[in-house]
Amino acid sequence: MDPATDSTALFGLPGEAPHEQLLLDADAGSGLRSISAIHSTARGPAFGGCRLWHYADDMAALHDALRLSQGMSLKNSLAGLPFGGGKAVLLRPADGFDRAALFAAFGRAVARAGGHYITAEDGGTTTADMRQVQRECAWVSGIPRAGAFGGDPSPRTAYGVFVAIEAALRLQVGRALDGATVAVQGLGAVGLQLCERLHAAGARLVVADVHARRAADAAARLGARGVGPDALLAQPCDVLTPCAMGAALDARTVPQVRAAIVCGAANNQLATPEDGDALHARGVLYLPDDLVNAGGIVSVAREYLGQGDESAVMAEVARIADRVRELLERAAGQPPGRVADAWARECLREPAT
Ligand code: NAI
Repeated sequence: MDPATDSTALFGLPGEAPHEQLLLDADAGSGLRSISAIHSTARGPAFGGCRLWHYADDMAALHDALRLSQGMSLKNSLAGLPFGGGKAVLLRPADGFDRAALFAAFGRAVARAGGHYITAEDGGTTTADMRQVQRECAWVSGIPRAGAFGGDPSPRTAYGVFVAIEAALRLQVGRALDGATVAVQGLGAVGLQLCERLHAAGARLVVADVHARRAADAAARLGARGVGPDALLAQPCDVLTPCAMGAALDARTVPQVRAAIVCGAANNQLATPEDGDALHARGVLYLPDDLVNAGGIVSVAREYLGQGDESAVMAEVARIADRVRELLERAAGQPPGRVADAWARECLREPAT
């Protein structure tokens, strides 16, 4: 059965407890059609970005919103944030739409959620879009302010993945980044900044992007070896780092993986939990995205709460390395994806501090 067309998906993901709330918003003038999925407010208001995307159909968009918002509950609880999980997807209107009007309409939709959902930028959206949302409501974060920390979360996401890679290499392979080979899929906002950090730490980079120009630029600037997008996952390397779209690791691609570690920023890298089991059976350490890509949500959450400054937030993001160590201890030979999921659900039941 295709979960995206399974009728039970309207109230939550098949086999999972239902989501708390699902909001469908449409606005004829701007062309807005958005789905805001509130998975859980047990630890606080549901916090998670909004994605502007082309979907095959409405059910595919619904499935994405449900899956991403549940992921945010687990990510926020593992990161120890006082927030529940939510996510919004905006179905991209036909070309030529008025972007400012679209995000203003979305801001009014977030306002109607009355504070149960807090948004931020995500795939396909920008800090300028979040400013439009902010004109309509206060439940938004990730907005640059002169002289203050905040704004685009991507640099902190990249930093969190960087410290996770460093820790995993040290603990699992017993080596430093200097001289290690890291294969990065996707050179967007996170992937490129991560490559810069990896390069500065002495890693040898193999990179791919569907925009060939981005791979060529990284090759020229960071001494990376560019390969075609279809070849990236099969590169022999110490660390494979998916930083593009979800579900890169599935029944077809997992057997091709020739890395010791998989650790990247992309949300929902595994098509199914069984793909994580298959990586484990092949001796590949898979570090779940919920755990390693939390740098961005830590940043927008602290900005929203008005807590801390750049160095305090970077120190909080660096604690992702401690969670990698704790995960390896907890896993003790079991598939880390499953162990992290159980750990996050345990945290979800605990009151936020
Ligand atoms: P982005 O949209 O800026 O970059 C994605 C890049 O991947 C683009 O350059 C695109 O051309 C490339 N790409 C797409 N499909 C590809 C393929 N099959 N092979 C190679 N390259 C491909 O997105 P961003 O912000 O860098 O995020 C990357 C991933 O990390 C996404 O899955 C996002 O949901 C996730 N993430 C991002 C956070 C952030 O702070 N930006 C926070 C947490 C997760």
